Amino acid sequence: MPQNVRAVIARTKGDPVSLETIVVPDPGPGEAVVKIQACGVCHTDLHYREGGINDDFPFLLGHEAAGLVESVGAGVTAVAAGDFVILNWRAVCGDCRSCRRGRPWLCFSTFNANQKMTLTDGTVLTPALGIGAFAEKTLVHAGQCTKVNPAASPVAAGLLGCGVMAGLGAAMNTGNVGRGDSVAVFGCGGVGNAAIAGARLAGAHTIIGVDIDDRKLEWARKFGATHTVNAKVTDAVEFIKSVTGGNGADVCIEAIGHPATYRQCFDARDLAGTVVLVGVPRPDMTIELPFIEVFGRGGALKSSWYGDCLPSRDFPMLIDLYLQGRLDLDGFVSETIGIDGVEAAFHKMERGEVLRSVVTF
Ligand SMILES: NC(=O)c1ccc[n+]([C@@H]2O[C@H](COP(=O)([O-])OP(=O)(O)OC[C@H]3O[C@@H](n4cnc5c(N)ncnc54)[C@H](O)[C@@H]3O)[C@@H](O)[C@H]2O)c1
Ligand SMILES: [Zn+2]
Ligand SMILES: [Zn+2]
Repeated sequence: MPQNVRAVIARTKGDPVSLETIVVPDPGPGEAVVKIQACGVCHTDLHYREGGINDDFPFLLGHEAAGLVESVGAGVTAVAAGDFVILNWRAVCGDCRSCRRGRPWLCFSTFNANQKMTLTDGTVLTPALGIGAFAEKTLVHAGQCTKVNPAASPVAAGLLGCGVMAGLGAAMNTGNVGRGDSVAVFGCGGVGNAAIAGARLAGAHTIIGVDIDDRKLEWARKFGATHTVNAKVTDAVEFIKSVTGGNGADVCIEAIGHPATYRQCFDARDLAGTVVLVGVPRPDMTIELPFIEVFGRGGALKSSWYGDCLPSRDFPMLIDLYLQGRLDLDGFVSETIGIDGVEAAFHKMERGEVLRSVVTF
């Protein structure tokens, strides 16, 4: 029987989100229905609401979640009812040209549920990142459910479903940060601070957090920044050079999604260093770079989707690090809120008051 549940919907571009009843179908072949326990508010949800991702309104928001599998469809063997899972937006297909070359973390054909969730009048919803977890229950592809140790709290575990994984992976996977590296992270929100935590886990020696908000810089130090700079007050590029022997950082991570800060990353990078773009730009943005320096400085300009993570490999491992006290996921949680608190959480995010607001059910 399809179920009616409460969910957070963005109906039209720029308008406040609304709490509505949606219809969740029974899981079909390869699908699962998950009872959501916690779902973090990510800046990407706000990008959807503002029409910055695409125009497929209405959106069912929320995509950074953990919960319990309620039921699975035909043919599903990897998860079963009762499993504690983190939802992922990279259910790898195993068969695209990237998977076949042994690079499933770049899968070009990831799975989502086939059936659609709808409003009660039948209007088809677009779930954010194919998940839609600001909802009491959601329908996903079973491959989007990654089992992890149920000893972890859902509030902390869900964060790995998007922003924190994106930041950790931007440093550990895409940036390939290693022992003794210097790393600069531009934007110390949830994603940027996760990149700082990832750089520390990977053994970086110098970690510089850049933001325009002193509260964020305070958090950055807590997650492992050895230096911080308020770019409103001090030239970030000069500062980064000054604490790296005049050279710039080995890895510069942009976690804002803005051309100006991307340019700062480019300029703050040492020779043969790596720029990692994990912030999501708006579709109308463009960049211009001195071409001779793109060539002359060597190194790599990379983009990081989801921190190049492989959920089946990375989620259980990172949850274990969390349970061992080596990865402070709880530190990202500024507040827990009800399902009716998402719009207010967007405003708190815009005002810089929170790292993560997490909806609990
Ligand atoms: N690539 C991915 O897979 C992925 C996944 C999740 C989120 N994201 C993106 O990452 C970005 C960050 O997400 P978040 O949730 O951390 O957002 P956030 O709003 O919490 O953090 C952004 C931070 O950037 C700072 N900032 C803004 N302008 C700045 C400037 N000019 N100089 C320095 N700092 C500045 C803000 O003060 C804030 O601390 C967003 O664009 C989001 O869409 C990407
Ligand atoms: Zn694939
Ligand atoms: Zn996200």
